[in-house]
Amino acid sequence: MLNWDDFHAEEKPKAKTATTPTVAPQTTAQNAATPSPTVANVQPVATTAALDRAQAAIAALNVAALTPAAVARIQVDDKRMINCRADLNQLVPFKYDWAWQKYLDSCANHWMPQEVNMTKDISLWKSQEGLTDDERLIVMRSLGYFSTADSLVANNIVLAVYRLITNPECRQYLIRQAAEEAIHTHSYQYCIQSLGMNEGEVFNMYHEVPSVAAKAAWSLSHTHSLSDPTFQTGTPETDRELLRNLIGFYAVTEGIFFYCGFTQILSMGRRNKMTGVAEQFQYILRDESMHLNFGIDVINQIKIENSHLWSKEFQQEVIQMILEGTQLEINYARDTMPRGVLGMNAAMMEEYLQFICNRRLTQLGLPEQFVGAKNPFPWMSEIMDLRKEKNFFETRVTEYQTGGALAW
Ligand SMILES: [Fe+2]
Ligand SMILES: [Fe+2]
Repeated sequence: MLNWDDFHAEEKPKAKTATTPTVAPQTTAQNAATPSPTVANVQPVATTAALDRAQAAIAALNVAALTPAAVARIQVDDKRMINCRADLNQLVPFKYDWAWQKYLDSCANHWMPQEVNMTKDISLWKSQEGLTDDERLIVMRSLGYFSTADSLVANNIVLAVYRLITNPECRQYLIRQAAEEAIHTHSYQYCIQSLGMNEGEVFNMYHEVPSVAAKAAWSLSHTHSLSDPTFQTGTPETDRELLRNLIGFYAVTEGIFFYCGFTQILSMGRRNKMTGVAEQFQYILRDESMHLNFGIDVINQIKIENSHLWSKEFQQEVIQMILEGTQLEINYARDTMPRGVLGMNAAMMEEYLQFICNRRLTQLGLPEQFVGAKNPFPWMSEIMDLRKEKNFFETRVTEYQTGGALAW
């Protein structure tokens, strides 16, 4: 086997007898300064004027402004979640270790939709008697809502939130989350395509089906002002506008709007129906519960660092937002479950959503609004609480790559 010394031993004789002249080693500074006159056999295409312009552009970089004399090293205390002026290109030292840990945990949970076996779903979906009309309605509505909802979330991260969160470790997670949202949209598209659904009908539900459109419109109403490229934080009003966006997307869109559809599809999987779609949804739910927890941590950190923003009046506004989201999801539950189906009905889902609403309020340090609401679907908590954020795919080779391996 060749080792490093062998490699150089072989290289040396070649260098002595080389038919092409070698290039003399240069320092980076020399490279930047002048083209070497020792480079023979090179036929320059670039004109002298072009090379002079390259030199002039390098000279104009003002590298001196980046030297230690000009810039102090970043200290942990320089870092802040919003309105931070410290250099955002330096990941360390970490201030928010939880954000970096969530990034690592997300990477450990990487998955791709094509690795889930959809064969059983395709034959069940195409058979006449495989699913009831009510069950088919749930599959259609879920894919209709989620196929565009995850794009809304991804666009909100990239076009609105990212530049306003002034912390590198949180940005690292946001990039990872945006990639996961792309995988989720891919997953829904993969389901829609595998099942041979009418793509125009599914992807346009967020315009055409009122209970789906209302949720999408509510989310979109909380991204409009921030996606204006001239929007800046830095005043109490604009900082609160960012908080409204984070609460609207993390606590409500990802924290409430996903829950009726996830519960319905996972219940289907537990009944051994549409198990491929349900497996995709279970992977997505694991990702989403991490997105939700990350968002809650960011919101709470902004509150700690900017306590003046969290006024009694603003707290009331946030409670109202979460109640609106809960009601929209209850409306969606009624629309998608006109009768009992899969061992659940709209009334049970309403109590579940009130329970979820209380959870979101508590996570933000706000009072519960449905005292006594219980969780009628404890198995959902088991699926979520069993997040296995670490080493989720420890058994990847035997369990994950074979697809369809989740036990319901
Ligand atoms: Fe997602
Ligand atoms: Fe998400």
